[in-house]
Amino acid sequence: MYDEVGEQFFVDLVDRFYEGVESDDVLLVLYPERDDLSGARERLRQFLIQYWGGPTTYSDERGHPRLRQRHFPFVIGERERDHWVLNMNGAIDSTCEARGSDESVRQRLREYMTNAANHMVNS
Ligand code: HEM
Repeated sequence: MYDEVGEQFFVDLVDRFYEGVESDDVLLVLYPERDDLSGARERLRQFLIQYWGGPTTYSDERGHPRLRQRHFPFVIGERERDHWVLNMNGAIDSTCEARGSDESVRQRLREYMTNAANHMVNS
């Protein structure tokens, strides 16, 4: 997918996602660095680029993702998951629309994000 959509797609996707987080009270309180989300933004962007077949900068800098474990410090129930998925789906839709992406890109991303978010629920 990285080769298909290009790096800028993931930059735009994560920027849009974090714009949503900034105005979502349920999500924002979870972020330790909520006054400056640039670090969190960078980590999610690099992770997604790596996951979808781009450069492995995420693991070069952070090691094995172990995402479920890394989310243990945050209380993630169904409510938090729903807000996360709603925000992410909105970011996927608007990025795909703006860039004229293939419908299959939208579907693959939505399916992956929903499954991954379910996996992160820990409360
Ligand atoms: C289910 C709802 C989720 C919530 C409420 C949530 C919340 C958070 C929070 C509060 C952080 C810390 C921010 C930081 O890095 O400083 C974080 C980090 C992160 N999240 Fe999530 N997250 C969720 C789902 C996901 C999913 C589905 C993915 C991947 C597809 C993901 C990927 C990441 C990554 C890559 C980091 C940075 C990990 C690191 O290297 O430390 N998150 N998340």
